[in-house]
Amino acid sequence: MNHETTHVASVDAGIDWARIRADFPLLTRQVNGKPLIYLDSANTGQKPASVIQSVDDFYRRHNANVSRAVHTLGTEATEAYEGARRKLARFLNVRADELVLCSGTTFAINLVAYSWALPKLKAGDVILVSRMEHHANIVPWQLVAQRTGASIRVAEILPDGTLDLDALHAALTGEVKLLAIAHTSNVLGTVNPVREICREARRRGIVTVVDGSQAVPHRPVDIAAIGCDFYAFTGHKMCGPTGTGALWARREHLQAMPPFIGGGEMIKEVSFDGTVFNDPPHKFEAGTPNIAGFIGLGAAVDYLDGVGMANIEAREAELLAHATEELDRIDGLRIFGRAPDKAAVVSFLVEGAHAHDLATLLDLEGVAVRSGQHCAHPLLQFYGVAATLRASFAFYNTHEEIERFVAALKKARGLLA
Ligand SMILES: Cc1ncc(COP(=O)(O)O)c(C=O)c1O
Repeated sequence: MNHETTHVASVDAGIDWARIRADFPLLTRQVNGKPLIYLDSANTGQKPASVIQSVDDFYRRHNANVSRAVHTLGTEATEAYEGARRKLARFLNVRADELVLCSGTTFAINLVAYSWALPKLKAGDVILVSRMEHHANIVPWQLVAQRTGASIRVAEILPDGTLDLDALHAALTGEVKLLAIAHTSNVLGTVNPVREICREARRRGIVTVVDGSQAVPHRPVDIAAIGCDFYAFTGHKMCGPTGTGALWARREHLQAMPPFIGGGEMIKEVSFDGTVFNDPPHKFEAGTPNIAGFIGLGAAVDYLDGVGMANIEAREAELLAHATEELDRIDGLRIFGRAPDKAAVVSFLVEGAHAHDLATLLDLEGVAVRSGQHCAHPLLQFYGVAATLRASFAFYNTHEEIERFVAALKKARGLLA
């Protein structure tokens, strides 16, 4: 396993995973008369009770706007909100004042696109993206390219779902001004060697954007060690509420970039002659933020820290190995993505059965998997398929759930035969 982006952290073999699972109230529910088997954590993660309680507690006891009022509730809300920023910063080994809080990865990448790339890029420049990107790391660059005359270049993958690193390095030519790359693929599970890639890009003066949406929830991530320029992630996949996430950026970029959205909170002084903007990161946080959501995200960081990211990574690696072994025994089942360093995501197709039909039949058995294109059309075009099924695991899943999922899949396939 590739540990280049990880803190040195030990794995605790004695963890009681059943007790940890019990922290997630939703996992006890029934769906279609069957116990829920939630295998869609790459889409959004489930929330532990401590996160739900922290949001509830904020609205019951502390609700006020941040950074505006001097009254006690306002001070409490601001302290809790800024406290969440500090927790996230420590969790990812970055400075809190380099962390722009926003609604998630999509917003974070658009912020780089509109505040960094749009003013800087010009005709002839190239933005390099990989074949395995989520649309959130493709479409903003296409919009920027249309407006600046820059073009998009694609770093291709190999059939096993790993990046073609030689081709990628060869593609880092003088016209490339920006490289946007997933830390972990949401479809293939491939964990890219982002530290090495960012080092190569940096040597050539190319700015790097890493999409960490699928990495931060599943392994220890040390952004400082990766050496990128921008790192985007989303809170709802890491046990936090929806509508939360952040962009980490090097301070020199944040200082030089113009604001993306204007309004309250992001200013020091406004007159009709002009506006003096606030210091980063507040310069990029116009308007009332998702205060309760970020307080929940702070609680999610506490929770993940309590379990230990190294333990989570090890647990999910076991679940992935088990699921892969079971699925590989099914005749005519094809898995997309066999990277040696892989997150607990299995995309697959079963010969003779449509992905949506299987997903619908699995739902009748209480099994939640995703079917479709997973916001990654260019990747599915590479494999020449219209859709796949995707089972994505988290540390709260169990080996028994994997066995029940595989049994339900076999039954569903039998019904479609
Ligand atoms: C790799 C990747 N990038 C970006 C996103 C977009 O995240 P959000 O919708 O939270 O902005 C996702 C979510 O599915 C993802 O998996």
